[in-house]
Parts: sequence; C-alpha cells; structure tokens
Amino acid sequence: MITKIAILVSALLIAYNQLQSTSQQLQEQPVIGIFTQPSTFAEYASQNYTYIAASYVKFLESGGARVIPIPYEANHTTLDEIFKNINGILIPGGSTGLKGPSLYTQRVAYLVNKALKINKEGGWFPIIGICLGHEVMHYILSNYSENFLIDVKGNDKVTRPINIHYRQAYFYSQMKEELYQATLNENLAYYHHIHAVSPSLYEIAPVLQQYLRITSTQTDEEGQLFITSTEGINMPFYSFQYHPEKNPFEWTIPANHSVHAIQFSRIHSYQFIQSCRMNSNKFSLDLNKLIFNYNPIQPINQNYNQVYIFQRLQAMEDAEYQEQS
Ligand SMILES: *[C@@H]1O[C@H](CO)[C@@H](O)[C@H](O)[C@H]1NC(C)=O
Ligand SMILES: *[C@@H]1O[C@H](CO)[C@@H](O)[C@H](O)[C@H]1NC(C)=O
Ligand SMILES: *[C@@H]1O[C@H](CO)[C@@H](O)[C@H](O)[C@H]1NC(C)=O
Ligand SMILES: *[C@@H]1O[C@H](CO)[C@@H](O)[C@H](O)[C@H]1NC(C)=O
Repeated sequence: MITKIAILVSALLIAYNQLQSTSQQLQEQPVIGIFTQPSTFAEYASQNYTYIAASYVKFLESGGARVIPIPYEANHTTLDEIFKNINGILIPGGSTGLKGPSLYTQRVAYLVNKALKINKEGGWFPIIGICLGHEVMHYILSNYSENFLIDVKGNDKVTRPINIHYRQAYFYSQMKEELYQATLNENLAYYHHIHAVSPSLYEIAPVLQQYLRITSTQTDEEGQLFITSTEGINMPFYSFQYHPEKNPFEWTIPANHSVHAIQFSRIHSYQFIQSCRMNSNKFSLDLNKLIFNYNPIQPINQNYNQVYIFQRLQAMEDAEYQEQS
C-alpha cells in the first residue's frame, strides 16, 4: 500500500514537473514569418516589388505575435537565418504561379521541408497555409503531383459554410457548440478561389496521408468535392482553403463581419499562435527586419484594404501567374 502511494506521489510529481517545464518553455514573444509574393499591383511593377496583404499581419498580431516578412526571392542563406529566428510561418493566399515548380514554390518548399524535417524528428515548427498557401503545401507534400489542383465553380468571392468532418481538429475542438453549429449553417467562411485540392489527391499521392488529415470539405456549384481544411498528423501543419484573416480585417470584399464570423476567425489566429508558442526559437535579428519598419498602403486594386509593399532584393522577372488561387 505504502509503495503504491509512493509510486502515485512520484508519478504526480513527475507530471507536475512536466507541466511546469512545458509552461516555462512556452514562447511569450512569438515571431512569425510571412512569405512575400510578386506584386500584383499595377502601380508597383512585379519585377521590382513584392507584397503581403496587411490582413495576414493583423491576423497574426491579434493572436499576440510579431511579424517578419520572408522575401521569397531571398537566397538560402537569408532564408536559413530568418528560419532559425522565428516560431512559425504563414503562407498567404494570392495568385502567384506554383507549377513547375516555380521559383516561389521552390523557396516555400525549402522552408516547408526544413520544418518537416524538424517535426519528423520530434521537434515543433508550425506552418499555416491559407488559400494559395494551402494549395502550395499540397503541391510540395504530394512530392509535386502534377494534378494537385482542380478547377471549381462558384467559390470566387463568396461566403459559405464549411462541412467539418473532424470535430476534434486542433482548431475546431476549441469551438463551443453554438459556434460549431454556426460554422456548419451560416456563411462564416470566405472563399476566393477558382482552384482547389480534391480529397482524391490523397489517393493519387498517398504520401500525403502520412502528413495531413482532411478536417473539412465543401462542394462547388457542380457538386464537386474539395478540401477546405487540413491539419498535420502529429505535426503542427495547418491549411485552409477559406480565408479566416478576412472576416475581421477586409472591408472591400463581401467577407462576413458578424459576431459569429469574428469568433470563427479569432479561433484560427489564437490557436495558430498558441501552437507557435511551443517552438522555442528566440528572435535575435535586427529589429528593423520586423514588419513595423514598413508602412502599409491602400492599393488601387480593391481586393485588399491595405498591403505592405517591399522592394525586391534584386530586380527579377520570375513570375508566371495563375489566374487566381
Ligand atoms: C525596376 O527597377 C529598375 C532599377 O531601378 C528600373 O530600371 C526598371 O525600369 C524598373 N522596372 C519597372 C518595370 O518598373
Ligand atoms: C545572400 O543574400 C544576402 C542578402 O541579399 C547577401 O548579402 C549574401 O551575400 C547572399 N549570399 C549568397 C551565398 O549568395
Ligand atoms: C519524389 O519524386 C521524385 C521524382 O519523381 C522521386 O525521385 C522521389 O523519390 C520522390 N520522393 C518521395 C519522398 O517520394
Ligand atoms: C454572416 O453571418 C450571419 C450569421 O452569423 C448571416 O446571417 C449573414 O447572412 C452572413 N453574411 C454574409 C455576407 O454572408
């Protein structure tokens, strides 16, 4: 009996110490990298400028993180240096060409593969891909499957529900029942895409099944099924075809700004940053590299209220565009 109590007490002590050490390890000053893309704004030539839509920055900041741009045209040395100073990466939506793989895909793949290696070896490096970001993650993780995209109809600038298949998902498990029901029944998710990833890609490229699980889907106007979200299997990779960052921050497009829509968005930013807090990298680069060093502008293209524009490290013309993600 006494031995049993002793074992129980020591087990409790071990558990308590583990709890303590995890809470000590939680990163309280997370910094997240966001990939730039070639400018799509007529007033800033794509040969000379790249951009990040400000809503992605605000989305991460509202979860408690600071942001550093990752210039996609940077060389591996620069990418390595940024990578070891950040706690996670956001790959945004946009219309940059992926196939080839394009230079953009290659540079994103360079860091996705670094994160993948860390995660496979028991470490923790979170990545969230949104819209084009969701698509490029599937392109890379399927080992560049030719047919990773399908064309879909009726999902360009519309609000619709999502069909959650996996209520235990890292993001969806945090929803109270009321919000969960709203997600299934109200138009809380904003879709802005003409391509998508079909669940059948997981059969065509079974390697995907090792890395990602499909957590929600939707159908297009013609009844074609596409994936609306995934999460990593035992690793902090997350991808969304819909745009959680637009509900609170974009007002020139018909995103939903209802209370439920904002709660829905907030779960995404909060949960992603929570995941990034479990990465223990410490930011030690020049603070001028953070997004605070730049001022957002209002572009003429009215798909975004505000964007950050960056001068390229070198003038270049690598960009073939897909029509839209
Ligand atoms: C890009 O910048 C270079 C160097 O400043 C300039 O010569 C060139 O005209 C610019 N290209 C475009 C398309 O504006
Ligand atoms: C990588 O880019 C940085 C910054 O643009 C530059 O200073 C450095 O020399 C480059 N390194 C290599 C190996 O090309
Ligand atoms: C990816 O595809 C290439 C070429 O098709 C092949 O050589 C390589 O083994 C594949 N890698 C994995 C991890 O499946
Ligand atoms: C936004 O969601 C609310 C419910 O939360 C719904 O009544 C409304 O129709 C939606 N608006 C748009 C633009 O989808």
